[in-house]
Formats: sequence, structure tokens, C-alpha cells
Amino acid sequence: MVEPIGVNGMPAIRWGSRNGASAVVTLQGAHLVSWVPAGGEEALYMSERSAFEAGRPIRGGVPVCFPQFADRGALGQHGFARNFDWRFLGIDEAGEGASATFALESSPKTLALWPRAFRLELVVSIGGAQLDLALRVTNTGSTPLSFTAALHTYFRVSEVATARLEGLRGVKFLTRGCLDVEVETREIVTAAEFIDRIYFAPPPWTRLQDGARVLHIGQRGFTDTVVWNPGRDRCELMADMPPAGYRHMLCVEAAAIEPPIALAPGEVWNGVQSVTLSS
Ligand code: BG6
Repeated sequence: MVEPIGVNGMPAIRWGSRNGASAVVTLQGAHLVSWVPAGGEEALYMSERSAFEAGRPIRGGVPVCFPQFADRGALGQHGFARNFDWRFLGIDEAGEGASATFALESSPKTLALWPRAFRLELVVSIGGAQLDLALRVTNTGSTPLSFTAALHTYFRVSEVATARLEGLRGVKFLTRGCLDVEVETREIVTAAEFIDRIYFAPPPWTRLQDGARVLHIGQRGFTDTVVWNPGRDRCELMADMPPAGYRHMLCVEAAAIEPPIALAPGEVWNGVQSVTLSS
């Protein structure tokens, strides 16, 4: 099943797999705004106050941050890929799962912001209890390029204060606004308050427990994991979040930040975030 739909007026693609999973991606940003695993409930957090306006970021789901993570460079926050319209290339329904592919290529508009020739491809694969997001970056130009990127996944949790993220003990991290790198000493990371950390070279899997639901979150190619929740005070200041929205989300982002990825002309980089729900 695949159908073009509108999400708050924004063009999007909805599709499902034979084994009962479904997903919705807006063409702006190739932004996954819904993932419902087979037999389960919505697994992503979407802010009910999100803007759905051309050129403005969507709050929730899975923003694709490229070619700059956060404000680490001269471009706007998280780069421009999340604010541009991607092309929908089609659905592949081989087997029980179903994958949708989206692409964004450099254009006069992107070149005006960032003078590099590139091609981005995002393949969103759903099937049963699993989601795979595969980002591929190709340097289509004749000069080297370097970028930072993230799949900025907002997981829906029933109550962030009791959600538990496991698997980061012993991993070095940097808190936003701090200069010193620290080492995670906790077996279980909780986010009852504001958290904004880049974990460097994490293990390939973390485990997010939310009540009886467990999400196994894997990454390949991406070198870092970002854990973010704005907490109560910052959330209240965000125009596109309801005041209590922070309680129902936790971002666990597959990221490539330090060092930036360098691609020679013609070179390709692949990064994948995989999520499996078990309960
Ligand atoms: C996270 C960053 O990835 O994204 C945070 O680590 C940032 O610092 C957050 O606040 C949200 O960014 P934005 O641009 O979507 O508000």
C-alpha cells in the first residue's frame, strides 16, 4: 500500500508493509513523521504545535540534519536538508518489508548556501517491528567536501522521567555549552531534566526502555550518538512544542559530528540507524 497524502497541508507519502507496519514521510526534508510497527502504536514523538510550513523545520519524527549538525558551522541550525523538498523515488516491496527512497541533489538553491555538489539518498525501510533509516551521501562534484549529519530521531515515551537509556556506560561525551569531555559512569542514562550530549564512538546498540516497551536502537557508519531533551524550562520557551511536550519524547540521534566526514570527488558515505521494538 502506498498513497500520497497531506500532513497538515504538506505533501507526504504513506505506505505499509505486508506484515503490518506503516510509515509517513513528508517530501520536505524526507522527514519521517510517523512509524507504527506491526501490532504496535506510534513509536515517534510529533509535536502537536509543529510548524508545517514550507522551509521551516518540523518538530518531531526524524529530521535529517545535513550538511551541518546543530550550529557547528556557518550554515543555519542543523543545515538545510530538513527544510528542502526531496524527490520520492518509489517503494520497494520485496519480501515482507517495504522501503521508500527519497533523494535530494545539489541545486542552485543549495549551492547558494553551500558551494558543494552532492547527492543525498534516504531509504526508509519498515517491516514487522523494525525500522531502518539509511542515509547515503555522494560527493558528485570535482572538489572534496566535508559535512556533519544526524538522523535526529524523536522517540515517543510515556514519561521521560522514567524512561531508561542503556548502553552508554564508559562512553566519552560532551555536554552542549561545556568545554570538557566527560565519561558516562551510569549504566542507565535518565533524562528527567534537560540533557544535550554528544556521545563519541558509542557501542553499536543502545536500549531504550519505556515501561514495558523496549526499543533497540542501532547505528552503523555514524560515529556519534546525541541524546537530547529540552527539559521543562527550555521546552516552555519553544514556540513549536506544547509546554509538557518534553515529557513525552527523547531524542536518540545517530550522528556523524567529530570528526566531520570528508569525501573525495565521487566518494560515497553510508550511515544507518536501525530501531527494533520488543515488549
Ligand atoms: C539537538 C541538539 O540535536 O537538536 C540541540 O543537540 C538542539 O542542541 C536540538 O537544541 C534541537 O534543534 P532544533 O534546531 O530542531 O531546535
